[in-house]
Amino acid sequence: MKIHDSHLHRRRFICGMLGGGATALGVGVALPVVPYAGNLRQEPLPPFMVLEPPDYDLEPGTSRILMYGHIPVLLLKTPAPGSRLKVFVATCTHFDCTVSYKADENRIFCACHEGYYDLEGRVISGPPPRPLRPFFSRYHEDRLIIALEEENLQRAAETAAG
Ligand code: FES
Repeated sequence: MKIHDSHLHRRRFICGMLGGGATALGVGVALPVVPYAGNLRQEPLPPFMVLEPPDYDLEPGTSRILMYGHIPVLLLKTPAPGSRLKVFVATCTHFDCTVSYKADENRIFCACHEGYYDLEGRVISGPPPRPLRPFFSRYHEDRLIIALEEENLQRAAETAAG
């Protein structure tokens, strides 16, 4: 009788341990999936964005990262003389790291795997397979409008003018 009770207790103990382990495993698998599933439900990108002078008026040879919805934007002013404003999606075409402007080398750099782009967004070296995606941009009065699709840029300018 005592031996039978002892087996029963041991069996319950082992079942409890296995059940707890399975629950912990399930939680361990599910937790990383929850934020990922949240990312899949990201807000859609805005059709365009209007920037005020303090946002885009950079000194030659400097840059700034802004957010366009959930994606980073690289604004950079090429060095003088003849400096021009460039606007790119700041996401590396290799594995989506955020790129930055390296003023001392006057090129765009991805620190993840040492990818380099020129100031036109073309790949110079490293693993990126494609150029950076440029934004369409135009000035309206003292504002700068940027958009990923040219027709949205046109629509934004017409809206602002009307
Ligand atoms: S993610 Fe940019 S070089 Fe790999």
